[in-house]
Amino acid sequence: MARRGKVTVVGAGFYGSTTAQRLAEYDVFETVVLTDIVEGKSEGLALDLNQSRPIEGFETLVVGATTTKEGGGYEATAGSDVVVITAGLPRKPGMSRMDLIEVNAGIVRGVAENVAKHSPNAVLIVVSNPLDEMTALAQLATGFAKNKVLGQAGMLDTARFTNNVAEAAGVEVGKVKTLTLGSHGDTMVPVPSRCTVDGKPLSEVLPADKIEELVTRTRNGGAEVVALLKTGSAYYAPSAAAARMAKAVIEDSGAVMPVCAWVDGEYGIEGVYLGVEAEIGAEGVKRVVEGDLTESELAGLKEAAEAVRAKQADVQSL
Ligand code: LAC
Repeated sequence: MARRGKVTVVGAGFYGSTTAQRLAEYDVFETVVLTDIVEGKSEGLALDLNQSRPIEGFETLVVGATTTKEGGGYEATAGSDVVVITAGLPRKPGMSRMDLIEVNAGIVRGVAENVAKHSPNAVLIVVSNPLDEMTALAQLATGFAKNKVLGQAGMLDTARFTNNVAEAAGVEVGKVKTLTLGSHGDTMVPVPSRCTVDGKPLSEVLPADKIEELVTRTRNGGAEVVALLKTGSAYYAPSAAAARMAKAVIEDSGAVMPVCAWVDGEYGIEGVYLGVEAEIGAEGVKRVVEGDLTESELAGLKEAAEAVRAKQADVQSL
């Protein structure tokens, strides 16, 4: 099997390390680099992952590197095709993603600048919170083309919606299709009109009040996990989503996924990072895919755009 390319995962917390594990186990990359500012952490995890190779049967080499805020250690990431930025603090119970904006802005800005110096042609996938704002900030900090910087949220929110619907309808997750757009936050826009169970519209399978309950649960999906874990936030589903996006980039697959992408004109929305469906390939976002929405769903998307636009303007000064 021809393995190719290099992917770096910045941040070896649970989100970053599980993303690195998934990426390595795909066995499609030549190299997975995992970095962290905690001395030895990423080297230890890389060694551990490499020792799992004979058992799991993959050949991708995992490299760990300790980095500093000043840019030390980033040589290990040089020439990456894809960089997943997980750096930053996760939420604690009771916090909103927006409560992290100031502290994570400083971290994400520094990381993005260091990444850009060593991998000027990389596609950046941002997962740090608040997601839409950190994605916008990473683009500003790197000066990369807007299509080359995207954020992970829609895949995760959609997966949560799908899981919620599958459980409520008592069917396999594979039989359920759902979609969420908008922000990774309070203005998330679950799109019931695009949801089906076994090919049937969701509205024919579940009563309206049940759908509304599932929509609310999806919107609060991250907080529900945070409240249970008490320390840290979700990482299995988030890392699955981020890793699939990185795979689509290296394979130049053209897969259509809900992601946080630069929207400029689609849906009548101008100049903002927002959760939409997009075709993903070697250059990041190949194109934003505009799907059919009901009037109220479109209104929700526009409302989300205005909410994140205001916050994205704020990050410029952080
Ligand atoms: C969540 C975090 C990762 O939604 O944003 O779980």
